[in-house]
Amino acid sequence: MCGVVVTTVENTPAEAEAEAEAPPPDPNAVNVTVNGVAHVARKGQLVIEAAADAGEFIPRFCYHERMTPVGKCRMCLVECDSGRGPAVTVSCMVTVSPDMKIETASPTAKRMQEGVLELFLANHPLDCPVCDKGGECPLQDQTVSHGPGESRYVEEKRHYEKPIPISDLVFLDRERCILCDRCTRFADEVAGDPLIHFTHRGNTTQVQTFPDEPFSSYFSGNTVQICPVGALTAKPYRFKARPWDLEQVPSTCTTCSVGCRTVVQSSRDELLRYQGHDSDAVNWGWLCDRGRFNFEAVNSDQRLGTPAVKQGDGLVEASWSAAYAKAAELINATLASDGPGGVAVIGGAHGTNEDAFAWGRLAHEVIGTPHIYAQQLDSLHGDLLNLPRATIGEAATAATIVLLCGDLKEELPVLYLRLKDAADKKRSRILEFTPRATGLSPYAWKTVLTRSGEQGQAVRTTVAEAEVAAQLSKGPVVVVIGKGNYAESGSFQTDALASLLSAVPDAKVLPAYRRGNGVGALQLGWMPGEGGNFTHKILGAAAEGKIGTLILVGTDPLGDFPDSDLARRGLAGARSIIAVDTFVTGSSRLADVILPAAAYGEKSGTTTNIENRVSPVTQKVTAHGTARPDWMIAAELAIRLGTDLGYSSVDEITDDIAAKIPAFAPATAKAVRAAADGVLATPAGTHSLSITLAEAPTLAGYDFRLVTGRKLYDQAVGTQMSPSLAGLAQPASLHLHPLDLDRFGTEGVELKVTSAKGTLVMPATADAGLPRGSAFIEFNQANVPVGDLIDCSLPVIDLRIETVS
Ligand code: SF4
Ligand code: SF4
Ligand code: FES
Repeated sequence: MCGVVVTTVENTPAEAEAEAEAPPPDPNAVNVTVNGVAHVARKGQLVIEAAADAGEFIPRFCYHERMTPVGKCRMCLVECDSGRGPAVTVSCMVTVSPDMKIETASPTAKRMQEGVLELFLANHPLDCPVCDKGGECPLQDQTVSHGPGESRYVEEKRHYEKPIPISDLVFLDRERCILCDRCTRFADEVAGDPLIHFTHRGNTTQVQTFPDEPFSSYFSGNTVQICPVGALTAKPYRFKARPWDLEQVPSTCTTCSVGCRTVVQSSRDELLRYQGHDSDAVNWGWLCDRGRFNFEAVNSDQRLGTPAVKQGDGLVEASWSAAYAKAAELINATLASDGPGGVAVIGGAHGTNEDAFAWGRLAHEVIGTPHIYAQQLDSLHGDLLNLPRATIGEAATAATIVLLCGDLKEELPVLYLRLKDAADKKRSRILEFTPRATGLSPYAWKTVLTRSGEQGQAVRTTVAEAEVAAQLSKGPVVVVIGKGNYAESGSFQTDALASLLSAVPDAKVLPAYRRGNGVGALQLGWMPGEGGNFTHKILGAAAEGKIGTLILVGTDPLGDFPDSDLARRGLAGARSIIAVDTFVTGSSRLADVILPAAAYGEKSGTTTNIENRVSPVTQKVTAHGTARPDWMIAAELAIRLGTDLGYSSVDEITDDIAAKIPAFAPATAKAVRAAADGVLATPAGTHSLSITLAEAPTLAGYDFRLVTGRKLYDQAVGTQMSPSLAGLAQPASLHLHPLDLDRFGTEGVELKVTSAKGTLVMPATADAGLPRGSAFIEFNQANVPVGDLIDCSLPVIDLRIETVS
């Protein structure tokens, strides 16, 4: 036997325990040093990011954490030694390697950084005193922190015509541009609107639009925010303030229900700018232009600042006390004559959770009416909220995203950005069922165009295809469900959803309720009680004279409700109307009492987005005139009606919601304000859907089926009262498949469109994104009142189209 002696050294018990507890080595850890200090970076991490994590800022212009690095500006040069000696390295293009020594401020790195800045400044006009960016300009700041102190260049600088408009909202000052490629990359890579590009060569390289094609992107304001110099400026903010004049608070956009995190800025008690805040969970720093620039409406001098009561045929200004007294008198009169069911309340989706909750309590507990609803038939029924809810992040990482909704680019623009990114980066495949090609169709794995009423069958057929079934089994599935067509029964979409969920039972759902706080309102009291009616039935009852008092809270049914005739008859039939609004609208003009409401930026509270994320909304300026938050109006009206809701501050309501509504338990006032990304409220998640499926009649040979939906810019009051946005609403037209249009003429031909409800004449547009037999007309545009064609008691709206003789 060979004499090999194997000696083992036993660990002491303490050592063994320590060894057992030691975490396994992280396979993603990369040990580096940053300016001589040891740091653990992540595998694949860029040097510029690793240095930032280690607390060392490397100057940069073109690098942006939400876009692909391009290494254009060379501002981020540092010295890195990967074992072969120090080398000048573009830190936004190179990833860390084991034992890399990163020097961000060595003499060589400093010389490089100074040189790059000197070259930038050789041509930069240095008009900082009159530049919007002055005071918050990375070029200014980094020249001070990393620049050479003086320049050797004395030559004449490059000159261009001073700012040229590249869109209705954005100006470009080419002299100031440092060609960093942020705006052009954003437009192409993030927004999917490659409408600006570098043109010319060498010293004359410049950013330009294409001839006759303005930069008409819904997201153009983001380029202004991320431009590292003042080359891009936004029309609504130019020359309005200097950064040091601005005060700011964090808030959340409530223009739609994505709930993008914002920073609200004001000067001299006037809202002047909204900037996107980078919330990893929600908007990644981006805003759409409607949400970014509609602060102009808050500042409008047409805002309602004083209560008014009807006298004769007109509204006459009144004190709050007189207006409350009148409103209470009207409600009491209805209660006396008709009982609680004679009062009905619609709207409520534009405000905060606290506004919604106080009004919900006023309606249900104080007045006692079951007739209250937050939707207008342009969204699906509130019971979608019971389904297991996906977050935006889950949707944007799902293996399959199923779209059963309208055009998200038009309705929920930043959700569109997140889902487009998921498809672009090949994390997800989009399977789309839609009545008309949408902004996401170019990124979809499969688009199934469906005629109204046929979407349930389309889903059943499609999910049975082997390729689709295989895709749906590949991993998590998230369904975005919303109303794809306002001119059809919501039951068709719910049927399609039910078919999808029976094929993929563990799919999660993201409900595309469009209105700012629709999701909050529906969960906080704006659902009908026992025997209560939804909006269309409330308007129907009002039309029949069965509603004594109709209360409109921030809603304009004459503009918003898809069936215009019913809206008109409902408002005309209500014996009295009380309106709470920020402007006098078509509907609130008919009110007996109109109470001015505080707008966004003028009140605090919380809002709930589509994923049930509760985020803070923060007051920044004093409310216009004597306008006050909706919750305060509800609380005062309750007192006038004999019940004290018991609220004296908005935080009390937030905490009351957390105490009374189980899903909102984590969303206390303190928790919401402390959380960086808001607090996720947990909806019930029962997977229950109640469907009473309407039957769609077969389309007759000569008929077309109507599809209507919103564009981002329409006649909505917030858009129309924002001078920079108002003109962006485009006229509506009759969109037909090109082969269908051939029967009537060519593009632009005036056609007569008749439904069972009415006749309109409008120009035609060829639209290859429609299936044959469908006709699309934009909703709520000034030139075509498409609501005049809609009868919401019918499951679908069929049209006869004729040439105008
Ligand atoms: Fe960069 Fe601004 Fe020039 Fe665009 S305009 S390339 S963002 S400096
Ligand atoms: Fe506001 Fe919606 Fe636009 Fe976001 S996507 S900025 S929440 S309107
Ligand atoms: Fe790295 Fe521009 S920030 S090259």
